[in-house]
Amino acid sequence: MLTLDVVDAFYGRSHALHGVSLGIPEGAITAILGRNGVGKTTLLKTLMGLMERVTGTIRLAGRDITRAPAYRRARAGIAYVPQGREIIPDFTIRENILMGAFARPGRRVIPDLVPELFPYLMQNLDRPGGVLSGGQQQQLAIARALAADPKVLLLDEPTEGIQPSIVEEIEAIIIRLNSEAKLTVVLVEQNVAFARRAGHHFAMMEKGRAVAAGAMAELTDALVHRHMAV
Ligand SMILES: Nc1ncnc2c1ncn2[C@@H]1O[C@H](COP(=O)(O)OP(=O)(O)OP(=O)(O)O)[C@@H](O)[C@H]1O
Ligand SMILES: [Mg+2]
Repeated sequence: MLTLDVVDAFYGRSHALHGVSLGIPEGAITAILGRNGVGKTTLLKTLMGLMERVTGTIRLAGRDITRAPAYRRARAGIAYVPQGREIIPDFTIRENILMGAFARPGRRVIPDLVPELFPYLMQNLDRPGGVLSGGQQQQLAIARALAADPKVLLLDEPTEGIQPSIVEEIEAIIIRLNSEAKLTVVLVEQNVAFARRAGHHFAMMEKGRAVAAGAMAELTDALVHRHMAV
């Protein structure tokens, strides 16, 4: 679905991704793992078109999108749920969700999946986003991404800073988005247990490089210990 071929990415003169080659299979959940600061967020930004300088080749369903700006990638079906969620606190839940719909031409409507997956949001559309708990804001950020009617969902640490009881709910939603709504998911996670439960494939990052990748069954404890703080 998405492929990276020897991709480098830079923040100004700072070299953040080094020769990353990786395939993101269609219809699966691919977990991107690694310690703090290894380039997981940078990888998602690179896929979404949010980095100022990228070399190498990125393809979406075979089409070269390396030079495509973020809005074109959004129209082509890539949606992004950023680390930290980036909800607009003074906007209502409805307005926050509809913001996602601006990524696409056409009708701006609450996506069909929202009442089913996020009943609380649906029942509170006129409340401000800022009053929500961390877990609810994460749901709102996912709902906003769905408003762009994506094929590929990029999720950056969706369980970070969320109370354990709610983590399971977020997990279940991500799994349903893949298995029922048929979204291809790229899931950045530091919660290895969740990544193992949800993910079909993994890529391990270290210092801006993809140092291992494969089927989730190939993610050994040794790999996790070598590359992650657990
Ligand atoms: N805006 C920026 N300008 C310059 N360097 C940056 C910027 N954002 C990140 N970096 C650097 O790029 C590298 C990769 O950062 P990135 O945010 O992608 O890591 P990460 O794996 O997502 O970390 P975390 O787990 O803490 O979210 C780090 O060395 C970081 O300091
Ligand atoms: Mg990050």
